[in-house]
Formats: sequence, C-alpha cells, structure tokens
Amino acid sequence: MERLDKLIAATGRFSRREVKALVRSGRVTVDGRPAARPEEKADPETACIAVDGEQILWRRATYIMMNKPAGLLSATRDGRGDGTVLGLLPPELRRQGLFPVGRLDRDTVGLLLLTNDGGLAHDLLSPKRHVDKTYFVRVAGTIVPADQAAFAGGLVLGDGLRCLPAALAPGETADTAFVTLHEGKFHQIKRMFAARGKPVLYLRRISMGPLSIDETLAEGEYRYLSEEETALLQDFRHGSSQSSK
Ligand code: URA
Repeated sequence: MERLDKLIAATGRFSRREVKALVRSGRVTVDGRPAARPEEKADPETACIAVDGEQILWRRATYIMMNKPAGLLSATRDGRGDGTVLGLLPPELRRQGLFPVGRLDRDTVGLLLLTNDGGLAHDLLSPKRHVDKTYFVRVAGTIVPADQAAFAGGLVLGDGLRCLPAALAPGETADTAFVTLHEGKFHQIKRMFAARGKPVLYLRRISMGPLSIDETLAEGEYRYLSEEETALLQDFRHGSSQSSK
C-alpha cells in the first residue's frame, strides 16, 4: 500500500502539491469513490485510481534509454535540467526522480540508462557484478595488436592502478576499436588509451549489460525501454544472464 499523493505524483503528470489540491477538490477517486485525503493509502496493483475519471497508469519504475549527446553531464543536479541530460526530458519525466545509471563524460556519447529504480541501478553499478560495457572509440594514432594484448593482460594506468582484463576488437579503420570493460573506473577508456600513448578523440558507449543502444535514436533522443528490454534487465539483475564473474 502506498500513499495516494505519492502514487499519483510518481506518474509525473502532477506534482505532489497539485495532487493534494486535486484530492481536496474531490477530483481523485479510488475504485470509483472520491479519495478523502492525499495521505490515504491504496494498492497500486489492484486499486483503480483516477483523476477526473481518467485512470492513472501506474508503473513501478521508469526506464529510459537515451542516446547521450556530447556537451551534457550525466548527472541530476537535484532534478533540474540545466547542463545535464535531464534537460532533454519533458517536465513530467523530470519530476519522476530519474537519474543516470553510471557516468559518461561530458564529451562521451551513446547509451545511457535513466531510471528511478535505485535497486536496479545499484545492482548494475556494483563492482561485484562486473557488468560489461562496450564502447566504440577513435584515437589519435594507430591501434596495434600490442594494444589488444596490453588490454587483455590487465593494463596498468599512468597512476599505477591496474585494470581488469578488457577486450579490444579492431574497428574498420586502424584508429578505431570496440572495447569491452568489466568495470568502470573514472575516465577509464581515456586513461587506458593514454597509457598506450593514444589520446581518445571520440567515445561512444554501445552496450551495457544486456542493453544495446537503439541505433534509430539520434543523439539527444530517448525512449522508454521496451517490455522485452525491461525483462532482460530484470533477469540480468537477478542473475539469470551475465552473472557475477
Ligand atoms: N571511459 C571514459 O574515459 N569515459 C567515459 O565516459 C566512459 C568510459
């Protein structure tokens, strides 16, 4: 059971304050009878909650796939949009308390998952899970088999930090590659290539765990995860696909 004001505000259509006013003016019904108080509790799985007769579509959590553009931070700044990827979302989504699952640098583009499911985010980001993240990268220089071997062997960064083995697959041109990490250190791809003397010029995340970027999304666009993607994520979370390694 959840408070009505919380349940209705979670849809993002109204703020909590607006919901309180709606309830007080008798415009919210639970199973056809006007709600008495915003604090009244209802079971969102079974109750029919409506505003002005229109049923509220309640979701346990929201999952958004975004193709992050360059120039924006993958942060929340308390739900305000300025300078962050949240600014690309309409107010009704911004009000849902969404946050990016993990960080991409300001100049990194590609797959970013936004959710208000703290448990899922925690599990995907947990260092113990070693969730695979694959990036397409273009560097200044030529990528050679020795780079592949160094990545596979657990590269030591400039500051002495050792990385877990990472897979480097050559791209179509000698300055590009696909790199799969099983961890997420700060600026990791850039620091790995810096350790090989090859500055990163372009970085795009193309997958994270069971999710791959939807290539039909232009940079700056987003969409809800499909039912199938959401199910994949939940299975993943509960360990039935890529499990802890
Ligand atoms: N590695 C980086 O260097 N930057 C990112 O944004 C992601 C991985």
